[in-house]
Amino acid sequence: MIVCVCRRISDREIARHARAGMGFDEIQFELGVATQCGQCEGCARDVVAQCSGSCPTANITLAAPVSEGSSWNSSQA
Ligand code: FES
Repeated sequence: MIVCVCRRISDREIARHARAGMGFDEIQFELGVATQCGQCEGCARDVVAQCSGSCPTANITLAAPVSEGSSWNSSQA
């Protein structure tokens, strides 16, 4: 679905960038979404928020380095 009519940018394109770890401002700069009439900004932000919520691994940082001997073993669960 086209989110930004002015720049012809789809929700899939916005989601792809969000999944790559980009925030709304970065996506706006990269794609130009919501830079003309601005009518699409709310919808574009919703797409970024939805993708961030469904792709939580994009923002995970490790508290401590994982060593080979301390990896999680599914057979112990
Ligand atoms: S519809 Fe996106 S800037 Fe106009």
